This record gives sequence, C-alpha cells and structure tokens, in this order.
Amino acid sequence: MTKIKYILVSHAIIARKKGVPITYTIIHLIHLYGAFIYGGFLFTDNLFMSKMAQSLAPEEAQKAREAIMKHVRKVVPPALIVTVLTGIYLFTHVFGEIGPDGMTRFQILLSIKAFLGLWLGIRGFNQVYLKIDPFLFKSHRFPFVLVIIIIALSQLMHV
Ligand code: HEM
Repeated sequence: MTKIKYILVSHAIIARKKGVPITYTIIHLIHLYGAFIYGGFLFTDNLFMSKMAQSLAPEEAQKAREAIMKHVRKVVPPALIVTVLTGIYLFTHVFGEIGPDGMTRFQILLSIKAFLGLWLGIRGFNQVYLKIDPFLFKSHRFPFVLVIIIIALSQLMHV
C-alpha cells in the first residue's frame, strides 16, 4: 500500500471508530474555522499590529489600527460566539459518562479547555455587546495567552 493510501485508509478507520454523526464533523469544522478567525486575529494583533507604533507616528499608528479594527469588529466577535456555541455542541457529544474511577484524562483536559473557552466567550460578549469592560486585563494579551493554552489542550486531551 502506498503511504498516501495508508494515511487515507487509517484516517477513515479512526473516523468510523469515533462513531460520530456527519453533523458532528460539520460542526467540528465550523468550530475550527471560528477558532482560526478568532485566534488568528489575536496572533496577528499581538505579534504584528501591536508593533505598528514602532514604525509610524502615534496618530498614524492609531489611524492604521482603526482602519483594520473597523473590519475586525464585524467579523471577530461573531466568530468567537460561533466558536463557543459549536464548542458546546461538540462537548455534549464527546464528553461522555463519568466512570466509577472518576474523570478520564480526556474529560479533565476537555473540561479545562471548555471552561477557558466559555470564559473567553462570556468576557468577549460582555465587552463587545454589553459594553462591560473586563475588570482584569484590558489588552488582547490575556485572550491571546488563553487561546494558546486552549489550542494546546485541544490536542493534548487526545494523547
Ligand atoms: C475561543 C474559544 C475556543 C477555541 C480557540 C477552541 C479551539 C479548538 C480547537 C483548535 C480544537 C481542535 C480541533 C481539532 O483538532 O480538530 C477544538 C476542539 C474542541 N473544542 Fe474548542 N475551542 C474553543 C472553545 C470551546 C468551548 C467553549 C467548548 C465547549 C464548551 C469547546 C469544545 C471543544 C470540543 C469538545 C472539541 C473536541 C472535538 C473533537 O475532538 O472531536 N471549545 N477547539
């Protein structure tokens, strides 16, 4: 069997073993796109946009940032909401029963991931739609760190 065929076949077997409906796969995909849009903005903002003031005059940097942020505000907060709602759906399908020996490693890490994701969601919703500013960490660094942790947990929980 060629390597590529082997990879395709083994992945198909894994997907079938998981036994999830196709709706799950579609929602999972939407979750990933939402996480990419939301997380992608936080990476761009923290790694690159925050450095604009190094090359531009303060008012130019402010103008340049606003030119980007007016589009960000239309797309990124809804992407966060989509990520959280799809996450809740995924959670209810994969968390499973808690056995007599307590939670599995997967269940513990998924719970931490879901808690952090919900926190980000509630924090973002309050800030953007209810205009309630978080009492802690006003910058985008805090959500950036949380997203890095959430993405790591989303992979480590399967190990
Ligand atoms: C900003 C918030 C969030 C981000 C950035 C995020 C990101 C991710 C990523 C990158 C994956 C991995 C997908 C893959 O490897 O295929 C994932 C999976 C998952 N997420 Fe989230 N997530 C967030 C919020 C949530 C919330 C709030 C919940 C639940 C309440 C949740 C539940 C899940 C579940 C259950 C999976 C596993 C799906 C599976 O393996 O079948 N997520 N998430």
